[in-house]
Amino acid sequence: MEKMLTLDILRVTEAAAIAAARLMGKGDRKDADRAAVNAMRTTLNDIPIHGRVVIGEGERDEAPMLFIGEEVGCGGDFEVDIAVDPLEGTNLCATGSPNALAVMAVAEKDGLLFCPDTYMDKLVVRPAAKGVVDIRASVKENLNNIAKAMGRDVDDLVVVILDRPRHEQLVKDVRAAGARIKLISDGDITPAIAAIVEGTGIHALMGIGGAPEGVLSAAAVKCLGGEIQARMRWRSDEEKKRAKEMGMDMSEDKVYTTDDLAPGENIIFVATGVTKGDILNGVSFFGGGARTHSLILSSRTKQIRFVDTVHVLDRVAKITLR
Ligand code: FBP
Repeated sequence: MEKMLTLDILRVTEAAAIAAARLMGKGDRKDADRAAVNAMRTTLNDIPIHGRVVIGEGERDEAPMLFIGEEVGCGGDFEVDIAVDPLEGTNLCATGSPNALAVMAVAEKDGLLFCPDTYMDKLVVRPAAKGVVDIRASVKENLNNIAKAMGRDVDDLVVVILDRPRHEQLVKDVRAAGARIKLISDGDITPAIAAIVEGTGIHALMGIGGAPEGVLSAAAVKCLGGEIQARMRWRSDEEKKRAKEMGMDMSEDKVYTTDDLAPGENIIFVATGVTKGDILNGVSFFGGGARTHSLILSSRTKQIRFVDTVHVLDRVAKITLR
């Protein structure tokens, strides 16, 4: 599957990123999201899969396209589950800020958690700290264990946290434990990846963000190593009702591991930068074309590919390769 589909999946995130990037800095997050969704869906329906969207733009009654449960693809041999975030960081794109992405993960059927669009409490750590954290333990205990496992002091650690009022206590706890913090305005998939990769200066991600972003982050963790733990945080009775219908455990105490969120053995994760960020360059446009930068991960081969693509869009363009 990986050999056959990787370039097709890449085409999907590239198309979404180019469409969103056209609207970068225009101040309209919904417009940019809509453009990314349209482009992603059109391209997705052109690839040879029987796909089911398990993580998408929301529930069928709220999202006209790429809703949870939607069937996509143009048929063929592969029956796959798909998690999409056509524009991760809609505000980031609307304001021209770093780290907006187009993201997608594909796995064999039942290889990615089928869950409603809700919130999730997340803890992401490096491979070195795998097995030494517990999201139910205190922040101090976890940070001490991460520092010990990484052979450093707690005040050498940097934790990424979404800058939200709900994280006031978490921020206090991390500071009290002695670690440093990078507060971000939006977009917790990039820091989840940064938290599991050496040399990024990020050592953990903590706090409550979107559950879809949690499952997509888990797909990346499954490919790169490290660990994610999560707990559902339902925002409404409606979400709980949907989750119940999907057969989910309703307890907010249940801890989801990397394998619960991304149980697949054959996962492909692809992200294309919309705006320039910590891991990827954004889309750049030139007369008649565009250039994109993407990350492709595979859980089976453990290969990490960075792909730099020049798209000649409407005429023979002047192409610069640097
Ligand atoms: P959008 O792409 O839908 O704008 O979401 C971006 C994001 O920042 C996620 O990365 C994060 O998990 C979630 O929103 C946090 O939600 P909220 O903004 O409601 O705190």
